[in-house]
Amino acid sequence: MALDGSIQATRVRAYFAKIASRYDLVNHLLSAGFDVLWRLRAAEVVRAWAPKSILDLATGSGDLACSLQRACPKAFLVGADFCEPMLRVARGKRLANLVVADALQLPFARESFEVVTVAFGLRNMASWTEALAEMRRVLSADGHLLILDFGLPKPPLLRPYRFYLHHVLPGLAAALTGHRSAYDYLADSIESFPNGAAMCERLEANGYTEARYEPLLGGIAALYTARRA
Ligand SMILES: C[S@@+](CC[C@H](N)C(=O)[O-])C[C@H]1O[C@@H](n2cnc3c(N)ncnc32)[C@H](O)[C@@H]1O
Repeated sequence: MALDGSIQATRVRAYFAKIASRYDLVNHLLSAGFDVLWRLRAAEVVRAWAPKSILDLATGSGDLACSLQRACPKAFLVGADFCEPMLRVARGKRLANLVVADALQLPFARESFEVVTVAFGLRNMASWTEALAEMRRVLSADGHLLILDFGLPKPPLLRPYRFYLHHVLPGLAAALTGHRSAYDYLADSIESFPNGAAMCERLEANGYTEARYEPLLGGIAALYTARRA
């Protein structure tokens, strides 16, 4: 990882450490509870693959991992995140296998997992290309990747949504967490993250095949799936 990347990683880890104890509450309030439905949808997609092993990257406070555990009770599930305070919240949710690890340098052998999931995490990583390569390395042949993340809706929703994202959300989040900068950063990161077909192209250019996306809530979030090529 370049120096810029390591500065970004340090900054992202510090953001999440600051908001860890209020992360779940703020998520549910600012998304009006839709984040819960999006993770349930992600878990439903993974259940259809019937995997024996799942790695949930950037697992954070563990909400997607919990949904996956319920949807795939027989699968060996590991949650990994590089922010210890976020994992502390996840540990309170009876998740067994939680590992402090950087998604860009995973402590797992190649082809260790049949499914890799990442919800609202890839966008925050210092190098999307390196992260996708590392996910590919730990995926078994033909393994499935699932990415859930924010996107931008199409007009006419785009203007009001941008107003909410840049002008309303940071103030609300600051009132709820006492930390505005983490949510200013959220809006900027969503603006620069590849959306829809652009993300599918990126996946196909980085060693994945069958890349597809499902817009959620008019494109405010999206679910991407692909297989290891
Ligand atoms: C917005 S939270 C998402 C948490 C959870 N997946 C969810 O659905 O709520 C983003 C998480 O990504 C983690 N993260 C960001 N970059 C990471 C990296 N390079 N390696 C591991 N975790 C990372 C952060 O520590 C944070 O816990």
